[in-house]
Amino acid sequence: MKTIKDFNFQGKKALVRVDFNVPLDADFNVTDTTRLKAAKPTIIKILEDGGSAVLMSHLGRPKGVDAQFSLKHIVKTASEILGVEVKFVPATVGAEAEAAVAALEPGEVLLLENLRFFAEETKGDLAFSEQLSKLGDVYVNDAFGTAHRAHASTTIVAQFFQDKLAGFVIEAELVNADKVLKGGVKPVTAIMGGAKVSDKILIIEKLLDVADNIIIGGGMSYTFAKAEGGSIGNSLCQNDLLDYVLELEAKAKAKGVKLIFPIDNLLGDAFSNDANTQVVLRGQIPDGWEGFDIGPQTIELFSKIIKESKTVIWNGPMGVSEIPLYATGTIEVAKAVKEATEGGAFSLIGGGDSAAAINNLGFGDDVSYVSTGGGALLEYMEGKELPGIAALRA
Ligand code: 3PG
Ligand code: MG
Repeated sequence: MKTIKDFNFQGKKALVRVDFNVPLDADFNVTDTTRLKAAKPTIIKILEDGGSAVLMSHLGRPKGVDAQFSLKHIVKTASEILGVEVKFVPATVGAEAEAAVAALEPGEVLLLENLRFFAEETKGDLAFSEQLSKLGDVYVNDAFGTAHRAHASTTIVAQFFQDKLAGFVIEAELVNADKVLKGGVKPVTAIMGGAKVSDKILIIEKLLDVADNIIIGGGMSYTFAKAEGGSIGNSLCQNDLLDYVLELEAKAKAKGVKLIFPIDNLLGDAFSNDANTQVVLRGQIPDGWEGFDIGPQTIELFSKIIKESKTVIWNGPMGVSEIPLYATGTIEVAKAVKEATEGGAFSLIGGGDSAAAINNLGFGDDVSYVSTGGGALLEYMEGKELPGIAALRA
């Protein structure tokens, strides 16, 4: 795979696939700028070489043209973060987009309208990809967060270019994921959370070969508790996986990997911030109650293991972290990961909710690497080939 490092963009117009799929609040303010900041080095390298950058991205999952999902909403924030004016054209392909590209001078940045206003994008349509390819002399893919999608702009468009290059984000994501996958400094601890066991099965199976400890928190932990014969009240459970999780526990034991479960849970009687709560031991949840977070003894145990680790990967919250009442476990795990890093550990934060927790606490710069990918990072770590990356190699 060629990266932009050794390429000179002087006089070139680079068509750059970025992942500017960022969260917006009700007033269309960007609430997490991680992906914008991440794209900066690639864009600046192109401009400093004397090239210009034509940025293309999706935002959300619109069904056709929908002003709510216009990339115009992020132009101001993107300009501030990049430190250069981002010009915007309200077109994705066709005459208007081509004219805006033609008018672009070296050192300038143009952002196209949302790729997903066209169904052809997600279908990976060849004709649409060819139209996109007219908007640059060189293709750069730096949208790691979307590299698991075989879409027009992430994959199919690459075949129309002689020069197809990975940007700095894609390069860094692979290097950092490989630091864990190819065996990190021991002890290696993986912290797995989130609602569903099924989302994490493949990655846990991979991690059994490289981790010393796998901490299981979040909604997925109740399936294990029930499989072991515990009572879980109304907590989340994937009943079809009860046998599987016991097999997984046996497999871990055979490989000498410690699976570490909560000792206690914080229960609530409602999915709301003013619910009644109580703490009980794992597997002792009364009827009518639901586990929404890890409890205080668990926080102590998980924090100790994390702080004693030299390599940490974290993917998924410990509880319903979007509700403050149930966010303590996730926050305390974030603090432990930060402390481990300060003590010399390498820490990789998988995208999505765990990245949001780290960033909301202002710890983004205190961990080793915050991934810009949710699904893409998981698929890469599961050992799947990401189509967006394969297309750069072809
Ligand atoms: C993401 O945020 O997961 C990426 O930007 C990809 O978006 P998607 O899941 O809608 O394809
Ligand atoms: Mg996604």
